[in-house]
Amino acid sequence: MKAVVVERTGGPEVMELAEVTQPRPGPGQLLVDVVAAGVNFIDVYHREGVYPLPLPLVLGQEGSGRVAVVGEGVSGWAVGDRVAWTNVPGSFAENVVVPADRALRVPDGVDDLTAAAVPLQGMTAHYLATSTCPVEPGDDVLIHAAAGGVGLLLTQVVTHRGGRVLATVSTAEKAELARGAGAAEVIRYDREDFAERARELTGGRGVRVVFDGVGRTTFDGSLASLAPRGMLVLFGYASGRPDPFDVNRLQTGGSLFLTRPTMGHYVATPAELHARADDVFGWVADGSLSVRIGASYPMAEVARAYEDLEGRRTTGKLVLLP
Ligand SMILES: NC(=O)c1ccc[n+]([C@@H]2O[C@H](COP(=O)([O-])OP(=O)(O)OC[C@H]3O[C@@H](n4cnc5c(N)ncnc54)[C@H](OP(=O)(O)O)[C@@H]3O)[C@@H](O)[C@H]2O)c1
Repeated sequence: MKAVVVERTGGPEVMELAEVTQPRPGPGQLLVDVVAAGVNFIDVYHREGVYPLPLPLVLGQEGSGRVAVVGEGVSGWAVGDRVAWTNVPGSFAENVVVPADRALRVPDGVDDLTAAAVPLQGMTAHYLATSTCPVEPGDDVLIHAAAGGVGLLLTQVVTHRGGRVLATVSTAEKAELARGAGAAEVIRYDREDFAERARELTGGRGVRVVFDGVGRTTFDGSLASLAPRGMLVLFGYASGRPDPFDVNRLQTGGSLFLTRPTMGHYVATPAELHARADDVFGWVADGSLSVRIGASYPMAEVARAYEDLEGRRTTGKLVLLP
């Protein structure tokens, strides 16, 4: 089968479409024909070695498809069933093995591309806004890169919970998309000091929470945007890892909280994974969560997809088609 293989760490050029041996499902596993695979920033960290993994590796964590083979001891799944997944290594391939207890059922009314687009970023938006810092009505919430994959979903989830979203973006088109997702205010952080602006927009108080997936370039400003006892949720490094910092800034900033969550800890058991997935797919199916597929690429053009993502040229979700 064809798959996107990384043999050495590096930039988008190290990803190659190559012929590899088709995996076999063991007991408790499904072999899946991949219909679409989701592009995520975590693949960049794997490719660059920021999160080191043994090489060579087949890249990709997320997708949707049809069950091709049902492994021994698996009940409840049949050949041809529609399935989606996340946190499953080797997803940029024609076939992938998915553990049956982590396989997500795709509801009718959710198409294949959307099913590939939503598990990772949708459940991230879910756990950030409902578990890491449960947003309450009236909360002021600053969301960076709000027109991105996570950003558009998180903006909607926070807005539905009654939060007031202050969104940062770098272009006029992205500003429009963030507003469409529910942002009450949009800040062009490429042009203005977003911490100052966030304070102005909150009558000098600052925000209750910042959801920051940008990292290095926003970290200081994110801390400076918080109200006393506010929380910085640093959930990614799109611009790189922030420098080490003096923990005393949490005291002087106003008894602040800082957390660095990762999805694995919020979908640690099959029960928690399925509860979040059921919510997210339910919201998509009933139209309360809209998923923007910004672009799709043939798997052979995987390098172009990541050049676009890392070059800040994309909006919403990107998917690859094997
Ligand atoms: N912890 C978790 O569980 C978890 C799960 C999923 C994703 N994440 C993180 O969430 C973040 C967003 O992921 P995503 O897949 O949805 O990507 P994305 O937001 O669609 O793309 C990244 C966006 O970040 C902004 N950005 C600012 N500075 C950048 C830079 N130097 N290089 C690249 N982008 C920059 C850009 O938006 P502007 O042009 O508007 O600035 C860009 O479009 C990533 O950090 C990812 O690792 C974390």
